[in-house]
Amino acid sequence: MSTSITQLTLTRPDDWHLHVRDGATMATVIGHTARQFARAIIMPNLKSPIITTALAQAYRQRILDALPTDSHFQPLMTLYLTDDTSPGEISRAKNSGVVFAVKLYPAGATTHSSSGVTHLQKTYSALAAMEACGLPLLVHGEVTDPAVDIFDREKIFIEQQLMPLTQQFPDLKIVFEHITTKDAVDFVLESGNNVAATITPQHLLLNRNAMLVGGMHPHNYCLPVLKRETHREALVTAATSGKAKFFLGTDSAPHARDAKESACGCAGIFSAHAALEFYATAFERAGALDKLEGFASHFGADFYGLPRNTGSITLERREQTLVNEVTFGNKTLVPFFAGKTLAWTLL
Ligand code: NCD
Ligand code: ZN
Repeated sequence: MSTSITQLTLTRPDDWHLHVRDGATMATVIGHTARQFARAIIMPNLKSPIITTALAQAYRQRILDALPTDSHFQPLMTLYLTDDTSPGEISRAKNSGVVFAVKLYPAGATTHSSSGVTHLQKTYSALAAMEACGLPLLVHGEVTDPAVDIFDREKIFIEQQLMPLTQQFPDLKIVFEHITTKDAVDFVLESGNNVAATITPQHLLLNRNAMLVGGMHPHNYCLPVLKRETHREALVTAATSGKAKFFLGTDSAPHARDAKESACGCAGIFSAHAALEFYATAFERAGALDKLEGFASHFGADFYGLPRNTGSITLERREQTLVNEVTFGNKTLVPFFAGKTLAWTLL
């Protein structure tokens, strides 16, 4: 019998996909991420989206101002791609030194995506500029056609949008965000080294039963929606493969309790309070704790062409019961695995 590891020290990790909102709500959630991660890619889907470099610079400053004074956390900003994003805006973003990627939301695909892209062809001049200057495209990969079943929207997106896109722009750096299917894993593996993917804790730990069996569980509802077990298994295999194409992106997406527990509940799961503990749990279940550091701390930085972090963090095998509630502005939210016990604690 192998003796189980009691401590796990990793290069300080980064979160390559994070929502922190803005204003008072942002100020109450940013510390959870800053405690765990050195850097995070900040999603631009505010109510009024971050469509220019100037807006990204101002948003970055608001995040820095909300951090504890001793924090070294660095927000890595993104632009929200629209039908009208110009090549000039792409070069401003690239030259700013604070914008690290551009996010594609198909219009209507998810929270605050109504200003998103209606037809990919409309963005070709911006995508050509990104391909030329090496600014990555971050893709929310779901079609929005109401005729397509919600569980098939990622698979159909790959066929209808992503395959043609990678043919049209063979050197464009693409991160297929929060992948949820074996189809997405296979697509990423079959693509060149300019195509990578992030994987969330919820898609590694849960399948769709966690959302729908024994009642509706709105706090396990996110987009892309949880899929069946075979897909979860494919994601675990990918994340723990040691392949540099797959790296950590929590997609922690805070919504107040009343917005989730509603007749039309919002999509989004908040996991920033214990993100690393969630990933450690998933990797340990797969017998692959030795693969966590690459996934959490190396491969994302390498893909983005940024230096790996120099500090470290330590996870200890010590049980913790997760909080039932997290402050969210002047409200509260129900975090992922609320009230449940995990075997790992971040020191
Ligand atoms: C995200 C949000 O709330 O901003 N929600 C989610 O379910 N993941 C948006 C997104 O990433 O799709
Ligand atoms: Zn997201």
